[in-house]
Amino acid sequence: MKKTLLSASAVCLAMAVPFGSVMADENADLIINGELEITVRAPAPAHMEGSGISEIMSGWVFRATETQAFEMDDFENPGMIFTEAAIDAWNTVEGEAGESCASCHGTPEDMAGVSAVYPRWNEGAGEVRTMTTQINDCRTEQMGAEAWDYDKNDMLNMQALLASVSRGMPVDVAIDGPAAETWEMGRELYYTRTGQLDLSCANCHEQNYGNLIRADHLSQGMINGFPTYRLNNARLNGVHSRFRGCVRDTRAETYSVGSPEFVALELYVASRGNGLSVEGPSVRN
Ligand code: HEC
Ligand code: HEC
Repeated sequence: MKKTLLSASAVCLAMAVPFGSVMADENADLIINGELEITVRAPAPAHMEGSGISEIMSGWVFRATETQAFEMDDFENPGMIFTEAAIDAWNTVEGEAGESCASCHGTPEDMAGVSAVYPRWNEGAGEVRTMTTQINDCRTEQMGAEAWDYDKNDMLNMQALLASVSRGMPVDVAIDGPAAETWEMGRELYYTRTGQLDLSCANCHEQNYGNLIRADHLSQGMINGFPTYRLNNARLNGVHSRFRGCVRDTRAETYSVGSPEFVALELYVASRGNGLSVEGPSVRN
């Protein structure tokens, strides 16, 4: 584990906190329901060479033992409750075309593996799509139904369902070919310092993971566990909302959920987790 010094501005944020209350068992392994093995540590993907990170880790590794425990049993994982609402939505006919998700896609289990490769380039649309933009495209273009709000209930529930059927499968987001330009944009955003605190994502999640910042044990800022159920706000949280929170913490203006900037950043951050398991819906504090 790297223990580099916090940058000058991050030092201002860091405070001494009693260790026992927040520390994780960083060597713990995640096995869900006693049978589903989740890869929470993996060799860093080749594109991260030079970043100083040789081993990538799920945010689960950094959570306190009690928080980790929630995810080891689906009956204890509050995020799993939301997948049930999504199964109803999956089977519900909505919109002018008289279709449900099920009428074109079969069962949710038929979508196993899809969450592992998103965001992904869509040839027909000529753009990188997140799960959210793809699902909304199905709703508006295929079903004649209204789009769901980005990072809100219905959408997060559906994403939790689709993540849950891919759990344990390795994240494998493509960054080459037509996705490369978007990926580069995301990479640049990741390393850009913002706000009064003049901090980039990398300052916290690449250079200081494993350290404490305020009362939080810093992770590598991976998104393999999204959507995440946060004990702090007792609901599912989306990737872009998490990005917003982090940027706001640097006291910077931030991009909106669903913006091209955050789509690019999502692709880049997802690709840093290539090799970890899909883990959503996960539990975090
Ligand atoms: C009328 C048929 C139809 C309906 C209804 C429909 N979809 Fe789709 N869906 C498609 C098609 C066609 C594609 C491939 C789109 C493309 O590649 O441009 C797709 C792609 C997807 C993908 C990406 C799959 C992949 O392998 O990349 C997801 C996720 C998805 N749909 C979710 C949903 C959800 C959730 C619903 C219900 C809210 C839904 N779809 C409703 C036709 C449909
Ligand atoms: C001032 C430090 C700081 C900066 C800068 C920062 N974050 Fe975070 N971030 C945190 C803290 C603290 C948490 C909560 C503990 C954890 O999971 O690391 C967090 C959590 C996250 C998580 C959730 C991880 C999980 O497993 O659920 C993601 C994703 C994330 N950050 C991404 C980013 C991105 C992308 C940026 C740049 C736009 C960024 N962060 C900038 C401090 C920061």
